[in-house]
Amino acid sequence: MRTVEYTRQGDAAQVLTLREEARRPVPGSGEVLVRMLVRPVHPGDLIGVEGLPGQPEQPEQQSGARTPGVEGMGVVESAGADVRAPRPGQRVAVFPAPGTWSDFVAVPAELAVPVPDGVSDETAALMLVNPLTLRMLYRAVEEALSGQTGPVLQTAAGSSVGRLISAAAVRHDLQLINLVRSTSGAEQVRTSYPSQPVIATCDDDWREQVRLHAGERGVRVVLDCVGGAMTQDLAELLADGGTLISYGRLGSGTTPLEALPLMARALTVRGMSILRWTNRTPEERAQDVAFAQDLARNTPDLLEVAADYDLADFKAAVEHARRPAKRGTVLLTTPRTADSGNGAAR
Ligand SMILES: NC(=O)c1ccc[n+]([C@@H]2O[C@H](COP(=O)([O-])OP(=O)(O)OC[C@H]3O[C@@H](n4cnc5c(N)ncnc54)[C@H](OP(=O)(O)O)[C@@H]3O)[C@@H](O)[C@H]2O)c1
Repeated sequence: MRTVEYTRQGDAAQVLTLREEARRPVPGSGEVLVRMLVRPVHPGDLIGVEGLPGQPEQPEQQSGARTPGVEGMGVVESAGADVRAPRPGQRVAVFPAPGTWSDFVAVPAELAVPVPDGVSDETAALMLVNPLTLRMLYRAVEEALSGQTGPVLQTAAGSSVGRLISAAAVRHDLQLINLVRSTSGAEQVRTSYPSQPVIATCDDDWREQVRLHAGERGVRVVLDCVGGAMTQDLAELLADGGTLISYGRLGSGTTPLEALPLMARALTVRGMSILRWTNRTPEERAQDVAFAQDLARNTPDLLEVAADYDLADFKAAVEHARRPAKRGTVLLTTPRTADSGNGAAR
């Protein structure tokens, strides 16, 4: 079995290594062992490996070897005691399952979600994190809007999550303004979502363009995954009483909290992490998972793949995942063997 791992945080190209061993994990009571076939390289995986500037490593992350990855798909290899479902041979998508950049991972059976028939392995590998992120972000937006229809401004609109948000805005009649960093990126988003304004932050007057599109009401909510130095501009674009929802950190630089007009303009800043999803009630989680399964079945083009790399080519995959103007998500694959279950898209 092959496992990608690191023993200290740092540049992924430097600290990640591949380990091979004969031993496989043994599923404990209530767990299944999944033979992983496909897993994504998410920006959050790389934050786990590299950390964030200015934020200390979490104490529980400081000892021993760690393996990146929180989601992916594979086939149930074996089940521990007290597991009624899923059964060996069944295709499943797993999340949250720390350490999916490995050929095998043991996870609680309840976190191994059956892959609907007809959904490809690649789509299944992307079925949970980003669609569940969309659900959590959308709920946060609805709370912040309290009945209004917008306008909402989102950054990195060409990202995989950004495109899910654009599609949801069309479905729910939400007034969305898309920000991207390049003219070519703006053109791509415009082609996919012609009804939504798209503004490139490489234009000197991008802030003016946002104000024009937001109109008199101003921007009610910012959905931001860029952060860093840009936070200052985003907060200034908010209407009084508006909310900035921070869910990523793609940008560089920092903005001190004290630099934001929080008190004078009654602004709210809140964070959102998919790693808190397990705090939701079992009923809410079941609804979220059903949403993700429907999305994978009915609109697989919203879970776009940038490229596939063998797990052993993780360095090339990480480099690709960071390439500007990449579209979709890079995947790491393990070849199917005769005993790794039925065909891909059943
Ligand atoms: N909080 C959570 O629970 C959670 C869950 C999922 C995702 N996320 C976050 O959501 C964000 C998007 O993730 P994803 O998987 O959708 O990403 P992705 O598909 O890999 O796309 C990344 C996008 O970010 C843009 N970008 C990269 N660096 C940028 C910068 N410095 N300034 C502006 N734009 C930049 C790229 O634009 P170009 O096309 O111009 O290169 C690209 O469109 C990430 O920050 C990720 O960490 C958070």
